[in-house]
Amino acid sequence: MCGIVGVIACRNVSKILIEGLSRLEYRGYDSSGIAINNEDGVYSHRAVGKVQALKDKFEAYPLDGKIGIAHTRWATHGKPTEANAHPHFSGDDLALVHNGIIENHEPLRRELKAKGYEFKSETDTEVIVHLIHDAMKSQPDLLKAVQASLAKLEGAFAIGVVQKDDNERFIAARKGSPLVVGVGIEENFVASDQLALLHVTDQFIFLEEGDVVELSRDQVTIYDAKGEPQERPISVFNHNIDATDKGEYRHYMMKEIYEQPKVIAACLDGRISETKVLTSCFGADSGFLKEVENIHIVACGTSYHAGMVAKYWIEDLAGLPCTVEVASEYRYRKVAVPKNTLFLTLSQSGETADTLAALRMAKELGYLTTLAICNVPSSTLVRESALTLLTNAGAEIGVASTKAFTTQLTALLITSIAIAVENGLSAEKEKELVQAMRSLPAYVDLALKEDAHIKNVADRFANKHNALFLGRGTMFPIALEGSLKLKEISYIHAEAYPAGELKHGPLALVDENMPIIALVPHNDMLDKLKSNLQEVAARGGELYVFADKDTDLHSEENIIFTEVPKVDSILEPIVHTIPLQLLSYHVAVVKGTDVDQPRNLAKSVTVE
Ligand code: G6P
Repeated sequence: MCGIVGVIACRNVSKILIEGLSRLEYRGYDSSGIAINNEDGVYSHRAVGKVQALKDKFEAYPLDGKIGIAHTRWATHGKPTEANAHPHFSGDDLALVHNGIIENHEPLRRELKAKGYEFKSETDTEVIVHLIHDAMKSQPDLLKAVQASLAKLEGAFAIGVVQKDDNERFIAARKGSPLVVGVGIEENFVASDQLALLHVTDQFIFLEEGDVVELSRDQVTIYDAKGEPQERPISVFNHNIDATDKGEYRHYMMKEIYEQPKVIAACLDGRISETKVLTSCFGADSGFLKEVENIHIVACGTSYHAGMVAKYWIEDLAGLPCTVEVASEYRYRKVAVPKNTLFLTLSQSGETADTLAALRMAKELGYLTTLAICNVPSSTLVRESALTLLTNAGAEIGVASTKAFTTQLTALLITSIAIAVENGLSAEKEKELVQAMRSLPAYVDLALKEDAHIKNVADRFANKHNALFLGRGTMFPIALEGSLKLKEISYIHAEAYPAGELKHGPLALVDENMPIIALVPHNDMLDKLKSNLQEVAARGGELYVFADKDTDLHSEENIIFTEVPKVDSILEPIVHTIPLQLLSYHVAVVKGTDVDQPRNLAKSVTVE
């Protein structure tokens, strides 16, 4: 999604802005731009494609100045062209960058056109800059003109705006889209996330919904939605700074896949003892565990798949009804909320627009409480939820989520057991599950040992155009996640089915050109799954089987076998995820796609 960086300093800011944009590349984008404000006016460069294209322009035509705003654009209104790239200008007076969507841009555009404003792009953003320009005719102060203009906008936004002739400040604001203030010494910053500013500061202020902020070199003044000045606390960033360093790896995705044993251990740390789940991990207010009678899980994308696994765990271990829904559906339907229902959101970023909207809607619906399982402590989702369980995966840069997913599953397992304990799970069973969890990092490490073999499997796979993933029970959501990973980064069309559904349609697709990826743990569904595989083999399909040795499956004609460690069945979804991540990764590398920033996708989807 779009990313914003803004700086005011006593030094030239162009390098800070470009480095900030490079650090935001992981969010997904298709064009970029920078505006620099100096004594001579506001000047900009914009470019389609990678930030490197913008850097090339800077090298050819350097721009110097001590105030600047910069942007990576993920196209929503209008194609990724230079004309649609931000910053957008009103005359040569004002330049503006924007993340979000202005829903009432059409009527505003008509009004502004009637007043003589000329539009140079197809974006919704351009209305904002003209609106501020128009407001300045009656209110020449930029801050006040911004405040007055924002009141007319419907939708979501984070903005940064600079004004020619004002070399002492710039203005930024947020409502519905993320924006953080970075505090420096005689220089201050804004950005869509902290990672964009870690090269210049580790001190951050998180803006609230509706905040407008005036940044000068030595001061940050924040006004709330009512225009009242507010003091907001400064937090010091404590993520591992090398999150933005690929280390020995060629891609962030591979680095993040290999970090999983470590981050799963970090997710478990302090949340389980030798024998128990420590309910203190939910904070002082863990009393909800006793009261909860139903669970509604809402999430998007990969996080939704984690929620689907949790449904199996919660219903199995706690015997409580659990529904799982994608946020974009949940938020637009009338929801019946049974008594004492926990509203549980899952999000690696904590900024996904649909998930946030679902949470805000849920807060009006009489849920027992709201719990966010999230990877970003400072995110909007965390700040707006009553309870939080952090996944502690560290910053994830690759767009295709890997370690954020397996740590979500780990946190969900902790939550499921904690709820189950209050609903009759015996101390003996709790101990057994907790001990299995303690071995999880080691099993994930073992699963990674198949990397070289999976790389060979990928060579065989890369010329395929379609793929079918099959699983039963908790392996069905993992099959969905495996197929999502494959399509996200290798652009191979992939679908996932519960294996029992094969004969109700997808079997018609099976021939020698259709690879079938089957997830086959040694559990009580094994015999049924083996029958499903027979159905595929009988039709000439090529089977890629991911199974443990005890299943008695192995490589033979038309079967390519990959060993997955044998684990307690509760851990199977997490451990079986690893080879599927590796498969997608290696297939994408063979195909030569952009692994970390796949086309058209964004890491943090901050618009609807
Ligand atoms: C985007 C990302 C996915 C992610 C989804 C939900 O589509 O590319 O990897 O699963 O958003 O994001 P969240 O941050 O809410 O987990």
